[in-house]
Amino acid sequence: MKAVTWQGPRKVSVETVPDPVLEKPKDAVVEITSTAICGSDLHLYEVLGPFMTPGDIIGHEPMGRVVEAGSETNLRVGDRVVIPFQIACGDCFFCNQGLQTQCETTQVTEQGSGARLFGYSQIYGAVPGGQAQYLRVPHADYGPIVVGEELPDHRYLFLSDVLPTAWQAVAYAQRSAGESVAVIGLGPIGQFAARIAKHQGLTVYAIEPEAERREMAARHGVLVFDTGDDSVAAIRDATQGRGPDAVIDAVGMEAHGDTQSMLGKLAQRSAQFLPEKLSQPMMENFGMDRLAALYTAIDLVRRGGTISLSGVYGGQASPLPMLTLFDKQIQVTMGQANVRNWIDQILPLVEDPADPLGVDDFVTHRLPLHEAPGAYEMFQKKEDGCIKVVLDPQATA
Ligand SMILES: NC(=O)c1ccc[n+]([C@@H]2O[C@H](COP(=O)([O-])OP(=O)(O)OC[C@H]3O[C@@H](n4cnc5c(N)ncnc54)[C@H](O)[C@@H]3O)[C@@H](O)[C@H]2O)c1
Ligand SMILES: [Zn+2]
Ligand SMILES: [Zn+2]
Repeated sequence: MKAVTWQGPRKVSVETVPDPVLEKPKDAVVEITSTAICGSDLHLYEVLGPFMTPGDIIGHEPMGRVVEAGSETNLRVGDRVVIPFQIACGDCFFCNQGLQTQCETTQVTEQGSGARLFGYSQIYGAVPGGQAQYLRVPHADYGPIVVGEELPDHRYLFLSDVLPTAWQAVAYAQRSAGESVAVIGLGPIGQFAARIAKHQGLTVYAIEPEAERREMAARHGVLVFDTGDDSVAAIRDATQGRGPDAVIDAVGMEAHGDTQSMLGKLAQRSAQFLPEKLSQPMMENFGMDRLAALYTAIDLVRRGGTISLSGVYGGQASPLPMLTLFDKQIQVTMGQANVRNWIDQILPLVEDPADPLGVDDFVTHRLPLHEAPGAYEMFQKKEDGCIKVVLDPQATA
């Protein structure tokens, strides 16, 4: 079969690899009909390189049809399924609490990590991913979401990751109708976090440097701002000078902006000692995240408010302004999304003919799988109005 493989920093290629086969009674093999590129794949594309091996199949947002079902699954050949990005057993201490990304059965203990993820480096088990013509799905007695036949793939596809991630980001912000939230970053996750918050009756502000992404969010009733101090001031003005009740960071560890000067500003405001000048080599190292979005969140959120991190962080040495966090009494929540925990709430919304979350206004590019290298580059550089790319493994042209 054909599959998208990691070959080195900023280098993916489509290769011919062996077809996956059933290995265990709980496995299924799925023929993929749509498979999306995620902002998380961009971390593999650049900073997570040390944890990848050339030839690794990437991708974790797939859907398709079951072509082989193990004897211990409830699936049938021909079932149309969406595959959650994490692999979970559904019946351990953590799965029973709705913490599927911490699943005790699939945890990558040798790396000290949570549940295995499809196509997401050695840190998450080096499991072959879903940007391919076929995918072996372990624990298919629990993971796959069986969906109906009538609606097109793009209505269901984002149940694999983007929609539950955005839903969890809003849930973890712990707000109710009438309150306010600011979403930082309007990539795919920020777009849906903003729409879901709006759908739940919150006033939604958003900060994003790319004009096309701001325009998309504005079409869905979000109050949009460019990055910069003026935007922070404007949102603060609009919230009685206090700042929004919650801030969702939908950017993560590769934020644009100057971590050094922003930390300086936060530190000065609270009369805190600045750590020694952070050296550029250290910033470029995996040991430290680019924290511009998180610092904006800490600055912007009102006292006693919540910061919900859905953007992925991976650093080990990322300085936090603890004085400000403590003094403002900020609650910080975070984590990979627990996909199956939210599906029952989201599924009726994506099937609703009125399309309340605007799933029909999201995908900007659908391309054949073999065009993946160009698609990655376009998504990373945000060229051609690219916001979300879906790859089609069955298209031949
Ligand atoms: N928690 C989870 O389970 C989960 C799941 C999927 C994705 N993610 C993470 O969510 C984040 C967003 O993913 P995405 O698919 O939307 O990707 P993306 O890279 O397209 O989105 C990031 C957006 O943030 C904007 N941005 C960059 N720096 C900024 C700044 N300083 N201020 C404001 N905006 C800024 C970019 O222009 C871009 O639009 C990534 O870190 C990704 O890894 C987490
Ligand atoms: Zn993803
Ligand atoms: Zn489990």
